[in-house]
Amino acid sequence: MSAAPALTLDHLGKAFGGLRVLRDLSFTVRAQEPTALIGPNGAGKTTVFNLVSGVYAPSEGRILLGERDITHMPSRRRIAVGLSRSFQNIRLMSHLTVIENLIVGQHVRASGLLDLVKPFRLVPNHRWRREAIDALAECGLEAYADESVSALPYGIRKRIDLVRATLAGASLLMLDEPAAGLNPTETNAMRAHLELLKKRGVTLLIVEHDMHFVDQVCERVIVLNFGEKIAEGTLAEVQRDPQVRSAYLGDEAA
Ligand SMILES: Nc1ncnc2c1ncn2[C@@H]1O[C@H](COP(=O)(O)OP(=O)(O)OP(=O)(O)O)[C@@H](O)[C@H]1O
Ligand SMILES: [Mg+2]
Repeated sequence: MSAAPALTLDHLGKAFGGLRVLRDLSFTVRAQEPTALIGPNGAGKTTVFNLVSGVYAPSEGRILLGERDITHMPSRRRIAVGLSRSFQNIRLMSHLTVIENLIVGQHVRASGLLDLVKPFRLVPNHRWRREAIDALAECGLEAYADESVSALPYGIRKRIDLVRATLAGASLLMLDEPAAGLNPTETNAMRAHLELLKKRGVTLLIVEHDMHFVDQVCERVIVLNFGEKIAEGTLAEVQRDPQVRSAYLGDEAA
């Protein structure tokens, strides 16, 4: 029995000017089946995230979140319907404290919700602050609440960014290279953090170059090369695939 689709890309294409960076890309991420999107540098992985999150509009094809067609939905609405992401470069405001960053994130979310939460702007954000503290505590990060982001080690900053990305209650979370730049201890902490999100029912789609990390976190792998899907399966399956080996090793004969 397979789970319901959390995300479906249906014949998606993207061109920038004359440059086709994605072509005829179709795949499904099943609910609660942590999935990795891998491929060599420039394969189009971040572009997929940019299309799904609404940073760019696709040139062709459709994107479905669950059953809902989100192809033309504004990115802010996508957050409201359960989609969240991190960026390849952390987007926290380094001059603000951790808690301030999280509250700013909440504010961005709320202002898209048809002013439903207007009353909260008249009180000193106490509900948002409480929610943010709870979210930090759940991940064992509450000690950092009032630290300036610029003073924090990179591994902690990445996990704070993860807390930011999940505060809106995402059902599908896309992470662009969560383990990049982390030392082994920080990588373990990141993995534990992701396990916690999985237990909460969050579906993960991650772009990651560290195959050991992919092996530990993901059940399914999709491989892109030059904007096209070249393989899909378990990590062991795709690693045996001649086209995948050729893409990574540059072996024309494979
Ligand atoms: N806004 C843009 N305008 C023009 N070309 C772009 C734009 N964004 C991405 N590209 C091109 O699209 C291709 C895919 O880039 P993308 O960033 O999606 O790759 P990636 O798989 O994430 O690579 P990496 O592993 O290095 O992060 C590259 O050739 C890149 O130069
Ligand atoms: Mg990228």
